[in-house]
Amino acid sequence: MCGIVGYLGEKDAFPVLIKGLRRLEYRGYDSAGVALVNGNGNLNVLKSKGKVDDLVAFCEDKDISGSVGIAHTRWATHGEPSSANAHPHYSQSKNLAIIHNGIIENYADLKNKLIAKGIKFRSDTDTEVLVQLIEYIQERKSLDLLTAVQLALHEVIGAYAIAVIDRRIPNQIIAACKQSPLVVGIGDNEFFIGSDASPIVEYTDQVVYLDDGNIAVLRLGEELKVVSILNRKLYPEIQTVDINLGQLEKGGYPHFMLKEIFEQPECITNCMRGRVNVNGDNVVLSAVIDYKQYLLNAKRFIIVACGTSWHAALIGKQMIEGFCRIPVEVEYASEFRYRNPVITKDDVVIAISQSGETADTLAAVKLARQHGAFIYGICNAIGSSIPRVTDTGSYIHVGPEIGVASTKAFTGQVTVLTMLALALAKEKETMSYECYRKIVKELHEIPGKMREVLKLNSWIADLSRTFTYARNFLYLGRGYSYPVALEGALKLKEISYIHAEGYPAAEMKHGPIALIDSDMPVVVIATHNGMYEKVLSNIQEVKARKGKVIALVTKGDDTISRIADEVIELPDTIECLEPLLATIPLQMLAYHIAVCKGKNVDQPRNLAKSVTVE
Ligand code: F6R
Repeated sequence: MCGIVGYLGEKDAFPVLIKGLRRLEYRGYDSAGVALVNGNGNLNVLKSKGKVDDLVAFCEDKDISGSVGIAHTRWATHGEPSSANAHPHYSQSKNLAIIHNGIIENYADLKNKLIAKGIKFRSDTDTEVLVQLIEYIQERKSLDLLTAVQLALHEVIGAYAIAVIDRRIPNQIIAACKQSPLVVGIGDNEFFIGSDASPIVEYTDQVVYLDDGNIAVLRLGEELKVVSILNRKLYPEIQTVDINLGQLEKGGYPHFMLKEIFEQPECITNCMRGRVNVNGDNVVLSAVIDYKQYLLNAKRFIIVACGTSWHAALIGKQMIEGFCRIPVEVEYASEFRYRNPVITKDDVVIAISQSGETADTLAAVKLARQHGAFIYGICNAIGSSIPRVTDTGSYIHVGPEIGVASTKAFTGQVTVLTMLALALAKEKETMSYECYRKIVKELHEIPGKMREVLKLNSWIADLSRTFTYARNFLYLGRGYSYPVALEGALKLKEISYIHAEGYPAAEMKHGPIALIDSDMPVVVIATHNGMYEKVLSNIQEVKARKGKVIALVTKGDDTISRIADEVIELPDTIECLEPLLATIPLQMLAYHIAVCKGKNVDQPRNLAKSVTVE
């Protein structure tokens, strides 16, 4: 949700800011803008509707000089996408400019008060209210910028990551955050700001992740100073980030999404490295070793997540219940946080989030903490907010995921959940050694089998052309394949804008079957497993109503292959590991249909990568 970037140093700020915006564009792409203080002490604010490329074109004949600046790429919350509503916003006198990620909930009250004082607004945004408030406080009391920011933030209800510059003091940026991420990069006599580390890593690997309520004061020639809103001096840890630039580029692929689909075998290998031993017969998760007493004695697990991560949670539930005999509830974080759920000290709450920043998941974690539950995070973005507030956890280690539609994070999450369920089952002795060993060995084989699945890419690209006509799709699966059906449907709708629904196959006859006619493609995950015969019957029911069946079958299947219209063959594996293979063709199907329809797969409309607002 909105990307923010800032630069203060000796370089020209504009190229650094634009490069940073491109790296953050996955967070929002309705509009973009920069504010720079030039050598004459003038504040130039340049913004445009659309993407970063549109901003660059708009800036071509403008003054873009200056070595201090802030920039923003927006995902609209208050006010439609337009250049007036784009950030940065500036104060009435045009001395101050601000960028903001988050939501100021009491902006209407504050705005009315400022209007009553004679302040005129140029936009519909909550952000402009904040910069006008800072200036109003600063001027009324003749305060320095830091104090004015602190006082203004006292009055604000909501979430924010902000950076403020003052054209009269061009060697300074004030940045602050609460419930929205903000990273400060420390270079050689220069500072960087980013919503995450991606716009920073090209210049320095020394970063500080600001905590809630922290305010960073960046001044040229001085050390980074961090204070609280009450001006208490803080001493945050300077961390070394480990992201290489190649992970942030497309590496020859036309889209990040395709690159990330193809990275999955390597990602899963990285995810298992040091955790599944080389002989492939033992799983070791440090969190399980270190926090055994909480995890083994849990009366119940509650998994909270959103979107794709919620689908991974549904697979985790089946494994933890099946392998460890511990009851597991899977909750949408957004529902859980508001419905006064029963949470006890004997519960373990698992929060799954690729970004580690999803506002609802973070709030669910905080709620669980208040009730004394032990909290385990499964995240990808290192140093993000959720891992910082959990008791322990396991990173999925799949590298930065830039494509807005989640792909490799899903398989990484499922892999960590598999390892967690296996490690717990071993400790609890709820699974026979033979069974444990068989699954661990097979887990070891998964990256190789994923490579086989990826060979289907050009065939799936051809197949996709046949289905661009469709306005609706149905995805069916049972057991472990049901969350795969949900995930396949989500991928298709978010990037191709075709309506798609995932259903447990047996539920079809309780309603969705009414939709089936010769125009309705039905994707069925029909691999060889416990429910093969039942799913076969479902396929026959679809065919009897002239639906078009695309079946995912186990290699060598010759029954469904004769009935289905199209068949995608998967390597054989153990049932609980099938999601790791079956999801990949569905990612490719969604990708190719969207490409055929000319959609922007990496930046689908209305979506943003990290949903840091409710
Ligand atoms: C779908 C997708 C979203 C995210 C959801 C949660 O492709 O990416 O549904 O899964 O917004 O995000 P995280 O995992 O970052 O909490």
